[in-house]
Amino acid sequence: MRVLVIHGPNLNLLGMREPSIYGDQDLDTINGLIEKEAAELGLEVKIVQSNREGEIIDAIHEALNWAQAIIINPAGYTHTSVVIFDALEAVRLPAIEVHLSNIHAREEFRAKSVTARACVGQISGFGARSYLLALRAAKALLERSAT
Ligand code: DQA
Repeated sequence: MRVLVIHGPNLNLLGMREPSIYGDQDLDTINGLIEKEAAELGLEVKIVQSNREGEIIDAIHEALNWAQAIIINPAGYTHTSVVIFDALEAVRLPAIEVHLSNIHAREEFRAKSVTARACVGQISGFGARSYLLALRAAKALLERSAT
């Protein structure tokens, strides 16, 4: 079972970026946790980060050649990106939206996700653990679709 994990803009700055909201672990540390959890769950993962909307769309398209599910934190694009929504709809791979912070408990503009409608579900507010929960959700989805 192969899962593509996509981190959106500014997540490369985790660790130093608003640690009271996003925690003090940097992206490499979080990616290490994702890889460890994936290995324990028997999942293969590829992880990408981009600050560019077009590159995120390319990654979603390329997932068609490899992945069976997508875990995506579109970061700020969550609240604006019709094109990421369209790309997720176009590839029709099951996707799970992830946020470190609880986007529903912050500024009003963050409560709206344009991209979540193209996802099976959203996990928001558990810090780096949101990604680990999403891996479990992806595994459950893939197991369900295999039976
Ligand atoms: C975020 C929440 C977004 O509102 C914000 O723009 C981010 C990170 C999160 O993981 O909590 O960059 O997606």
